[in-house]
Amino acid sequence: MRCVVTGSGGQLGRCLSRRLEAAPEHELLFAPGHAECDLGHAGHVERLFDEGRGLGAEVVFNAAAYTAVDRCEQEEPLAHEINAAGVARLAQRCEERGVLLVHVSTDYVFSGDARAPYAEQAETGPVNAYGRTKLAGERGALEASPRAIVVRTSWVFGPGRNFVGAILEQARKRRTGEAEGPLSVVDDQVGSPTYADHLAAGLVALAERALEGEAAGDGDEPVRGLYHLSGGGSTTWWGFARRILDRTGHDDLEIDRTETASLDLPAARPAFSVLDTRRAGALGVTLPAWEQGLDDYLASPDGAALLEARA
Ligand SMILES: NC(=O)c1ccc[n+]([C@@H]2O[C@H](COP(=O)([O-])OP(=O)(O)OC[C@H]3O[C@@H](n4cnc5c(N)ncnc54)[C@H](OP(=O)(O)O)[C@@H]3O)[C@@H](O)[C@H]2O)c1
Repeated sequence: MRCVVTGSGGQLGRCLSRRLEAAPEHELLFAPGHAECDLGHAGHVERLFDEGRGLGAEVVFNAAAYTAVDRCEQEEPLAHEINAAGVARLAQRCEERGVLLVHVSTDYVFSGDARAPYAEQAETGPVNAYGRTKLAGERGALEASPRAIVVRTSWVFGPGRNFVGAILEQARKRRTGEAEGPLSVVDDQVGSPTYADHLAAGLVALAERALEGEAAGDGDEPVRGLYHLSGGGSTTWWGFARRILDRTGHDDLEIDRTETASLDLPAARPAFSVLDTRRAGALGVTLPAWEQGLDDYLASPDGAALLEARA
């Protein structure tokens, strides 16, 4: 596949770019970061398939998004411009050029009231501005480009700022005496941590299935529309934090269980956002368990660098 990756500076964008660069069967034509292709900038999106950029692309993986969940509450118009209007613009451009768009969305499109994993067709009901803008982006993508693939995922960690780094920073502070006492982590949100590199592999596999299916034209159900893809299993942020400490030599550090409400954050969070991933699974695309995702991240060069920085 000849590919473009937008948002290449983020956790997922970095993993996608590296994977595609390393795969001899694929060609990464162009991997712009935020400054080079700002989704909020119509001219940038317009020029995406120009000579010297993504000319000849078959697939665009969009890993760009305004992801600061709490800031979105104050900046919903800006977040909407990027996560919704910008995505629709990108999908329109892809459609005009006959390019497959693989766009990434979020578990935060759901309210969190369910107690069983959410399937793709489950009713949405975002509880915060970020979720509203991402839901509008899903709709905009699929309206502008009906053959687009929109993948909802959850609790992403990988190269960049993330929860694993935040917990290891808290551990480091206990070791150096900059902080004392137990860590404190919320235990009333349930979800599925997802290693960005595992997700990247899943997105590439879905795009491959879609293009193979189109080429074969064999009448099978086309690979398009909504899919759920996250690390297998589920836990709470407390459970995730416990595992991070246990796997990094900090099993003696204690973590208090707290409630989300006590943090008084600007944005509400869904209490339960586990995704039912069977639709992608039926195509043979399933991500490893979240615990494996954590182990693989910690064992990667990114994880090694993080551990060194937090030693
Ligand atoms: N992180 C999660 O827990 C999570 C959970 C569910 C779904 N997702 C979705 O997964 C996808 C990848 O997320 P991630 O974790 O890789 O996020 P990330 O690390 O925050 O990366 C997002 C990237 O998008 C860039 N960006 C922001 N505004 C942009 C704009 N106007 N135009 C172009 N690029 C822009 C950011 O650049 P700057 O750093 O310069 O702003 C950053 O490099 C996103 O669609 C996100 O909504 C993430």
